[in-house]
Amino acid sequence: MNIKTNYQVTQNELTGKVVLVTGANRGFGRAMTLDLAKAGATVIMLGRDLGSLEETYDEVVDLGYQEPMLYPFDLEGAGPEHYEQLQAGVLQTFGQLDGLIHNAGVIGTMMSIEQYDLKLWYSTMQINVNAAFMLTQFLMPVLNKSADARILFLSSSVGRKARAYWGAYGVSKFAIEGLSKTLSEELEKTNIRVNSLDPGKMKTEMRRKAYPAENSDKIPLPESKSPVIVYLMSQASKDLNGEQLTLSDA
Ligand SMILES: NC(=O)c1ccc[n+]([C@@H]2O[C@H](COP(=O)([O-])OP(=O)(O)OC[C@H]3O[C@@H](n4cnc5c(N)ncnc54)[C@H](OP(=O)(O)O)[C@@H]3O)[C@@H](O)[C@H]2O)c1
Repeated sequence: MNIKTNYQVTQNELTGKVVLVTGANRGFGRAMTLDLAKAGATVIMLGRDLGSLEETYDEVVDLGYQEPMLYPFDLEGAGPEHYEQLQAGVLQTFGQLDGLIHNAGVIGTMMSIEQYDLKLWYSTMQINVNAAFMLTQFLMPVLNKSADARILFLSSSVGRKARAYWGAYGVSKFAIEGLSKTLSEELEKTNIRVNSLDPGKMKTEMRRKAYPAENSDKIPLPESKSPVIVYLMSQASKDLNGEQLTLSDA
């Protein structure tokens, strides 16, 4: 299902909502953090690099938006005990969670399946898939406390139609699509709505790694696409569930 990028963020439309964004320090995660905070949501900014998390936090606060909360966390190394601490912290601080956005990801490397480096395969699947599964499972009890919650998985065109040499990244996004669909069926009768989103190309570090020779001047900035994330966390999108969403130009 196509959705358009030209959503206008209204201040306060997400006031009172708590949304956790993974990889909130830079790229698309940073852009959506700014828009969500502008709309009044309290963003739990999860990321592994405290320095750049703090820079984004400062930007949000300097703009006068809703103050976020920093949560340094390495999705590759974390075990059940770390997820348990996160669950307890969210419960204690906010009492509920209204949005969970699985944005963090790594590209792995461009290589045939035959040649693919084993360690890189494991770490890509750990960050892109296993961590998203664990985070979802551990945060389900807090999402259940919200009257209207959302889980959003960032996907990619290569997770819907296979492309040679995209290796663990492509396979991980196919897995994310499966996780999103399965979960949306299981939660159909609850207050949690689950969807995946292919945001299309964005000028970020990931895109640069995937296409190092590309002239990036004409690649859209993540800021041009992040307003739609506010829509996907808002009341206006409450009828979307189990959708494979694709961002199309306005
Ligand atoms: N850019 C595109 O053209 C494009 C196209 C389709 C889909 N997407 C999807 O959109 C999402 C965001 O991509 P992006 O372009 O913004 O990528 P990006 O600029 O490379 O940012 C990736 C984010 O994930 C975080 N991350 C990676 N490993 C982590 C770990 N072990 N623990 C915690 N955080 C970790 C990074 O943190 P560090 O700063 O610590 O590395 C960074 O914040 C991804 O899911 C991607 O697959 C992007």
